[in-house]
Amino acid sequence: MSNSYNIAVIAGDGTGPEVIREGVKVLNSVASLYDFSLNYVEYDLGGARYLKTGETLPDSVLGELKLANAIYLGAIGHPDVPPGTLEKSILLRLRFELDLYVNLRPVKLYPNVETPLKNKGPEDIDFVVLRENTEGFYVGSGGYFKKGTNDEIAIQESINTRKGVERLLRYAFEVTRARGKRKKLTLCGKTNVLTYAWELWSRTFSEIAKEYPDVKTDYAHVDAICMWFVKNPEWFDVIATDNMFGDIITDLGAMIQGGLGIAAGGNINPQGVSMFEPIGGSAPKYTGQNVINPLAGILAGALMLEILGETAAAKSIESSVIKTLTDNIKGLEAGRMGYSTSEVGDLVAGYLS
Ligand code: IPM
Ligand code: MN
Repeated sequence: MSNSYNIAVIAGDGTGPEVIREGVKVLNSVASLYDFSLNYVEYDLGGARYLKTGETLPDSVLGELKLANAIYLGAIGHPDVPPGTLEKSILLRLRFELDLYVNLRPVKLYPNVETPLKNKGPEDIDFVVLRENTEGFYVGSGGYFKKGTNDEIAIQESINTRKGVERLLRYAFEVTRARGKRKKLTLCGKTNVLTYAWELWSRTFSEIAKEYPDVKTDYAHVDAICMWFVKNPEWFDVIATDNMFGDIITDLGAMIQGGLGIAAGGNINPQGVSMFEPIGGSAPKYTGQNVINPLAGILAGALMLEILGETAAAKSIESSVIKTLTDNIKGLEAGRMGYSTSEVGDLVAGYLS
């Protein structure tokens, strides 16, 4: 019997629905070629719903999302909603409630995609960042003292648990081994200044490393990593880091791989339901014009299939994206692709084999 997956779709705001529409088009085509089926249930979440009803993520919806095989997300964000509102009550809440403890961000420069790095090509930029996704500064621990007075104090704490650090690092060692590229795992931290948190991270890292003698380990401070991403991206294979550093270095990673039009990511619970998204925002000014680049959303779909175990189908999507990039597309920017959003989706679907 062929496999069947229930996919919760959160198309979201702005250009999210257009991107997801093309992603679903490609996913359906690849599913029929590879003999599995995808059943979608759509959820209306995001800024538009919040402005209409005041609701962000109702408990009933959260309960249903927990039962899906995966979540496919377009974009959450609305110019009329104060910053922080939707991030906290939808995106971050999903990460905590579904325990999506790995943020997976492939940083891969595809052929024919322009990178701002001089003299670097696809053979130089191909690594994966695994960011801890449920702890650190993101837990919201802290508070004010004497708020509003001249003696005001604001405290924001980074929480690092042995369990949280260990499970992310174990996943990172497994990914490094399975990827089988250079089998090198780099820990990205700040051991020279943040001596409590990063002592825990590096001690745990060394301990787990003993169980993976085939994986080479390395360490770099986060500030140095920012330099190397630009100067020597070819040094990296897999990078593991905490939530805040990961947030920062993955945006830098997105830029060296060609920008938000191509960058996809996964919020993963290896034992549960995971969520996949293009990392660019809702791009409100392009909404409804059929000009936004859907490739990041399509690649997020490929990532979803990979994590669901449909690796051949995931590879097929990636190859089709590469063909589309090399044979057709003129650029990645909205309105400058030489094709509409739906035409790009058609091209990718057409190349599948
Ligand atoms: C990301 C985003 C989020 C984060 C925001 C939207 C809360 O920037 O997924 O990297 O900071 O993690
Ligand atoms: Mn970010």
